[in-house]
Amino acid sequence: MHAIVTGGAGFIGSHVVDALLERGDTVTVVDNLSRGRTARLPADIDLRQVDITDPDAITSVVADTRPEVIFHLAAQIDVRTSVTDPVHDAAVNVGGTINVLEAARGVGAKLVYASTGGALYGRDVPLPTPEHTLPEPEAPYGTAKYCAEQYLGLFNRLYDTQHAALRMGNIYGPRQDPGGEAGVIGIFCGRLFAGERPTIFGDGKTTRDYVYVADAVSAFLAAGDSERGGVWNIGTGRETSILQLVKHVCRSAGHVAEPVFAAARAGELERSVLDVAAAEQDLRWKATVPIEEGIPRVYEWVAWGQDDRAGR
Ligand SMILES: NC(=O)c1ccc[n+]([C@@H]2O[C@H](COP(=O)([O-])OP(=O)(O)OC[C@H]3O[C@@H](n4cnc5c(N)ncnc54)[C@H](O)[C@@H]3O)[C@@H](O)[C@H]2O)c1
Repeated sequence: MHAIVTGGAGFIGSHVVDALLERGDTVTVVDNLSRGRTARLPADIDLRQVDITDPDAITSVVADTRPEVIFHLAAQIDVRTSVTDPVHDAAVNVGGTINVLEAARGVGAKLVYASTGGALYGRDVPLPTPEHTLPEPEAPYGTAKYCAEQYLGLFNRLYDTQHAALRMGNIYGPRQDPGGEAGVIGIFCGRLFAGERPTIFGDGKTTRDYVYVADAVSAFLAAGDSERGGVWNIGTGRETSILQLVKHVCRSAGHVAEPVFAAARAGELERSVLDVAAAEQDLRWKATVPIEEGIPRVYEWVAWGQDDRAGR
């Protein structure tokens, strides 16, 4: 199979690229390298430095390479940036996704889209949250991701395609920039490895559904291989608080570090956890790496020097 991975030089995208290559697929990476790094990719990869907001450029790569599947991960991923610059966020996350959808239409490719389960549902929702819950995002980032999902669904109805959107929880693992928005596990591992204390914003009781990156990758492959289109939560169904994360990271580091508490960040959800029954049933996908196993892998990756090509 030939696949395009947009955002393939990023954290999750580079792991998707490796998994596709490992099973013998041909891969083209599309990335503007705004946050991505070529060091995350094999040296001989077909990398096209293209911005998804440029319709002619993305159409030309897709027409040239004629993929069967496009894994669409390129995005403006910073929630706070989306609040300060919602126009740019929508240009990349909505406009860019429509460009990719149109390019895919030209060659009959299936799209598997990296949506969000953590930033889409909002507060006052059932926990764990199922897919049929009405999304009420708290920031432009979640709104744009939801809007892009709506375009996927529209294309499925208009053109009888089988595009899929994966509403992922908080993905963590090796290669995640410790400075990133969702990289709290990497940040804590980095702090403890440096002999510093982790900073907790708020009381540390906020919870998220943390998914190890290899599990996210297997969800992308399962959705790409499936004949079905639709929207699926990709999570563990398990809530973990920031205080619990600190305990796990301390265990990996082999020493205890008392956290420093700072003021809570405005607009943060108290709790988030995803209902994953639909992905289990429809995609035969299930998370396999519990947080007790995933966190030591991240700590080792940090301790071994944060190699961009390491870690599965
Ligand atoms: N990390 C998480 O916890 C998480 C959770 C839910 C959803 N997601 C989604 O998964 C995807 C990948 O996230 P990530 O954590 O690997 O982020 P990342 O920033 O590491 O990867 C995104 C990649 O997209 C590229 N990119 C950004 N804007 C682009 C543009 N206009 N044109 C071309 N390339 C562009 C960047 O250079 C980067 O390589 C994103 O769509 C993100 O919204 C991530």
